[in-house]
Amino acid sequence: MFPRTISRRDTLKLFGAGAAATGARVVLPKFAWAAQQSEIAVSQAQTEEEQREAQTRAARMAWWHAAKFGMFIHFGLYSVYGHHEWAMEEEGIPVAEYEQLARRFHPRPGFASQWARLAKRAGQKYMVMTSKHHEGFCNFATKLTNYCAPDQGPGRDLAREYVEAARAEGLRVGFYYSLMDWHHPDGARCATDPAARERFVAYTHGLIREIMSNYGKIDVLWYDVAWPLDAEGWQSVKMNQMVFGLQPEIIVNNRNLLSGDFSTPEQTIEASAAGRAWESCMTMNDSWGYQRADNDWKSPKTIVRNLVECAQGGGNYLLNIGPTGDGSVPSESIATLEAVGRWMDDHGPTIYESERCKVTHSEMAGFTRKGNTLYIHVHFWPGNTLAIGGLRTKVLRAHMYTTKQPVEFNQGEFRVQFTGLPDHPPDPLATVLEVECENEPAQDTLWVRENRPRRGVGI
Ligand code: GLC
Repeated sequence: MFPRTISRRDTLKLFGAGAAATGARVVLPKFAWAAQQSEIAVSQAQTEEEQREAQTRAARMAWWHAAKFGMFIHFGLYSVYGHHEWAMEEEGIPVAEYEQLARRFHPRPGFASQWARLAKRAGQKYMVMTSKHHEGFCNFATKLTNYCAPDQGPGRDLAREYVEAARAEGLRVGFYYSLMDWHHPDGARCATDPAARERFVAYTHGLIREIMSNYGKIDVLWYDVAWPLDAEGWQSVKMNQMVFGLQPEIIVNNRNLLSGDFSTPEQTIEASAAGRAWESCMTMNDSWGYQRADNDWKSPKTIVRNLVECAQGGGNYLLNIGPTGDGSVPSESIATLEAVGRWMDDHGPTIYESERCKVTHSEMAGFTRKGNTLYIHVHFWPGNTLAIGGLRTKVLRAHMYTTKQPVEFNQGEFRVQFTGLPDHPPDPLATVLEVECENEPAQDTLWVRENRPRRGVGI
């Protein structure tokens, strides 16, 4: 709800008419494509702070652009309750009553290692766990409140276990942090009471300082819901300055109401304009936090389609799990992530390090690209012949991605047809054709609509 508005406003701010060209130099990252992105971003940065961040952005984000697929984890007292992470507000639960959940919160030993191993098996390259959600409970050790894991039911620092588990699997580590806080006495009145605002902003900056100081290198800071203040109220510029001071290589999102490094479409796949990084976050059912009755699970096929669609638009896919209070991942999520992982074992290189792709139109397939190579991910298999309309590049060679078996094709002005394909899809999630093109593959279906010879009525 809130973040959507935020991200639109941010986008306008970023790409608005007033954007000044600076011509600043960028640090060259691993991927030339990322460098291009960064140059565009530097020329669009408006404030000095944004310019500084933009100059290092390509280098900071190279791993993330290559990674494409991450695991989001919503874990907190709502995981014990099992009614979705908005239950405290939406069920009107009094603070004192909700706090009781903290005593019943007992993640079992090794819970985070199970998540990290699952993420690894799924082909995910990074993890982002809620350090504090809207409910206000801190999963980390803090000197600023005793409403935190070490002082309550868990009796230990869950954030530390999470960070160590992720690193043990070679995954990058991110913290989600909700600015909105339903528990802190100043969390709402800071909107109207200047003294409360001063206290609450100091508390917020203090907590962020702790998560940025006490866990070694953190790769992503994922802010969420900024209600009830604006960027000035939160002192978001100062907040990011502190974060980058403590973690010079980190990347941050846009939900503290600054543009940050990437946009955050939620439950939808919406590519940002070229030059702006984006990550689509999504649930596997309809809830972020554990909701015991929510059985509306996405299939492995849908997850693969979504991942391909994100990669096609040059974006990342941050896919959520909502463990129970003891840290167990719902079995449906495990089964799906494992199925996706098996597909990624065979097809990972068509996703990782892929670049924004200008071929986008097919109701049967999604597309990714590396250089002049196009990967056609067919989710609805047509049988013998697969046709793609409006491909404005010459196809040189084609083969089945996993078997390397050559595929015949005919290319005319308006379509290319790949022929002699098996009757049934070799891979039920998505079968991939690798197509080598003469230039960067591009598609123009409007050109087909306008130029295809037509026969007149009655002729
Ligand atoms: C929304 C929800 C929140 C969830 C987040 C994930 O902001 O309020 O519960 O954590 O989206 O993007």
